[in-house]
Parts: sequence; C-alpha cells; structure tokens
Amino acid sequence: MTTPHTTSHTTPHTGPAPTPAFTPTAIPAASHQAGRAPADPPTDLPSDTVLSVRGLRKGFTLHTIDGRTVDALHGVDLDVAPGEHVALAGTSGAGKSTLLRCVYRTYLSGGGSIWFRTAAGDLRDVAALPDAEVADLRGQEIGYVSQFLRPQPRRSVHEIVTSAGTARGMTRAAARTAAEAALHQVAIAEHLWDMHATVLSGGQKQRVNIAAGTIAPPRLLLLDEPVSALDPANRAAVLDLIARLKETGTAVLSVFHDLDAIERLATRVVVLGGGRVLAAGPPSDILRDSNLPLEVAR
Ligand SMILES: Nc1ncnc2c1ncn2[C@@H]1O[C@H](COP(=O)(O)OP(=O)(O)OP(=O)(O)O)[C@@H](O)[C@H]1O
Ligand SMILES: [Mg+2]
Repeated sequence: MTTPHTTSHTTPHTGPAPTPAFTPTAIPAASHQAGRAPADPPTDLPSDTVLSVRGLRKGFTLHTIDGRTVDALHGVDLDVAPGEHVALAGTSGAGKSTLLRCVYRTYLSGGGSIWFRTAAGDLRDVAALPDAEVADLRGQEIGYVSQFLRPQPRRSVHEIVTSAGTARGMTRAAARTAAEAALHQVAIAEHLWDMHATVLSGGQKQRVNIAAGTIAPPRLLLLDEPVSALDPANRAAVLDLIARLKETGTAVLSVFHDLDAIERLATRVVVLGGGRVLAAGPPSDILRDSNLPLEVAR
C-alpha cells in the first residue's frame, strides 16, 4: 500500500486532475495518485446522513518557505442530513474553507473519512475515491459555490447554467428553461446571457455561480461565502433562493461571514477553532454564546 496523504502541496489546484462534468467554479479535483485503501463505512453513521465527516485531518507543507507544516484540520466530525443547512462559523483561519475544499476534493485530506451517501443509497468515502468517481459525483450530486467564480473560458452565462442542469440529469431543453428561470431569480439581465462569464462583474459572476449551483439542486451543496460580493437587494434574492433549498431536500454545508444569514438559513451551526469543532447546536443558542470565537458581522 502507498503512503496515505499526510500533507499537501501549497498549490493544490495543479496536477493531472480530471475534468469534472460540471463545476460552477471550474476547480479541478485534487489529484489522487497516492491512493488510499477504501475502508468499510462505520456502522454507527446516522441512517439519513448525506454527509458524515469522521476524524478529518488536513495539513499543508509549505514547500516554498522552509518545508514547515500548517495543520488546518485536526480531526473534524460532522453530519449533514437531507434538507439540513449546517453553517460553519469561527474566526479567520479556523479551517472552514479547508473543510469545504476537502469535501469537494479540491484538497486531498490527510486522514479521516468523508462519507457521502449517493442518490442510489451507497456510502462513498470521498477522501479515498478515484478521481473519475469524484468528477462524476461533482457533476451530478455535489455542488460547490465559492466566493469567486472562475468561469471556463469562452462559455456564455446561459451555457454555464444550462450545462449544470444537464450534468444533474435534466434534458437539454428542460435545462435551458430552468437556466432562464434561475438567471431571472438572481437578477441577471437577459442581455448578459450570451456574454462570456469572464467579462462579468464580481457580483454578477457570483450570481451566475449561485444559479448554476442551485439549478436541479444537488444532494449536497457546499457554499463558501456565496453572497460576499452582493449588494443588499441581490443578497436578499440569493438568500431566498438558498432558503428554498430546504424544500428540495438538498443538504447544505455553508460558510457565511454574516450573523443574519446564518440565523435565517442554518438549522445547525458548527463552530470551528484551530481546525477543531468547538461547539455545535441551533443558531439561537450558538450565535448568542459570547464565549465562542465567532467572527461574524452584526
Ligand atoms: N493552500 C494552502 N496552503 C497553505 N496553507 C493553507 C492553504 N489553505 C489554507 N491554509 C491554511 O489553513 C488554515 C485554515 O485556512 P482556511 O482558509 O480554511 O480558513 P477559514 O476558516 O476559511 O478562514 P477565512 O474566514 O479567513 O476564510 C490557515 O492557517 C491557512 O493559512
Ligand atoms: Mg474561508
């Protein structure tokens, strides 16, 4: 057996990664060359789980400095059920984005498991899957919307959102219609639909990203500060859209630097600090606990 992933390079977006069927942010999967022996799922996972993270670790080796290691995650456990919206909170550097990127397999984790229950009911450890299976899951079942849309070149706004729908099983005609509805919902004007997404403003890109992430909602949606670049009116429209995901049964794992958004959307808040889970509970309890290191706008 080859060495498990205990460290990672500081340039995790490079390497012979597969092309995902669709990813709104066009982030390649972290290359999975080292291989990790697939383990059997533990028997004590919640029966309705979509995502069960167990003992997740992640370290970064700073090759370009002096080879020292930064430990970002120290053994995180977390469950997300269908229709549940779990918001990650904690100060800057706590490990929130790293956790989302490990789940989306942009980063290879250094230890632990990331159990994802597929639509077919199988439990797969995303941390140990071959790249090709990760690419399939990303297109069909796991969505990721980050702060920044990195659009694929020469693709129109309309095409980006439509192809997200076809990747999740819609016919092309249905996906085109749904893409138009989604673009209207996030207030992207029709004259922008044929333009290449690369020329859009930051806030417009973020809204296209949300439209693509929520069309034919995936089983698991990962959101990393998805409204950070939006003005109040657009922010409210996007938060409405995210709120409606509960009705579709989508499991959401999010990061918002905004107490109001967490309070409105989250069914549970998990507070990270120094790469560990410090607390978890309903927003009404967690957000009022002045002893917790929360870094949110009030
Ligand atoms: N690619 C990388 N290379 C080296 N270190 C990294 C890398 N990505 C994250 N880290 C380190 O991991 C730790 C956690 O970072 P992360 O981005 O997950 O924090 P965060 O909770 O999302 O913070 P913020 O609220 O500022 O977005 C930090 O110490 C960070 O410097
Ligand atoms: Mg972050």
